[in-house]
Amino acid sequence: MKKSLIYILITGVLILLGILVYTLYYNMQNGKEIDMSDKRVLIAYYSYSGNTKAAAEKIQNLTNGDLFEIKPKKEYPKNYNEVVSLAQEEKQKDVRPELVDNGNVKDYDIIFVGTPVWWYTMASPVKTFLSENDFSGKIIVPFCTHGGGGASATYSDMQKLAKGAVVTEGYTSYENSAKENEIRTWINKLDF
Ligand SMILES: Cc1cc2nc3c(=O)[nH]c(=O)nc-3n(C[C@H](O)[C@H](O)[C@H](O)COP(=O)(O)O)c2cc1C
Repeated sequence: MKKSLIYILITGVLILLGILVYTLYYNMQNGKEIDMSDKRVLIAYYSYSGNTKAAAEKIQNLTNGDLFEIKPKKEYPKNYNEVVSLAQEEKQKDVRPELVDNGNVKDYDIIFVGTPVWWYTMASPVKTFLSENDFSGKIIVPFCTHGGGGASATYSDMQKLAKGAVVTEGYTSYENSAKENEIRTWINKLDF
């Protein structure tokens, strides 16, 4: 009787230890679950060919925030060479294209802002979004996707445009390679 009780106890302790080791391993690999339920979170993004949109949706999935697509009134040309030269011209002239909707950041505390890298910085519609809204006292969490050149000046340029905001460390991914576990680790590190 006593012996079987000891076996049951040992088995119980081993099961608990197993759960503990598994949890520690899981957390080390993937980061803690994100709980931002006490924050008002917006994920605003512009995406020309879908990569930044995919990253934004992963962030939305993890944070449960509201998703907002930054859309220029005039669509960019479908032809890649045309959009590349138009974007270069817009950068040189510092064009801020009109948006369908400037968005509403006043109802949010934390605003993720996503962009493809265009000519070493954010895409022009994101410039409009940042300059047309009041970000005083807000936290901007930037992310971008690029074609091999990295974030370049994207995040420092965002800080220049979004006056009064704190811009955190960003999440940078190549083309469509944004990963949920990396995003989770990044957000956990920001420690909101
Ligand atoms: C107009 C234009 C300019 C670009 N400039 C850069 C650049 O300076 N550096 C870079 O690494 N990639 C550059 N790219 C590649 C995009 O940043 C990359 O493909 C990105 O993932 C596209 O995101 P999207 O699918 O959300 O539009 C450029 C692409 C376009 C269309």
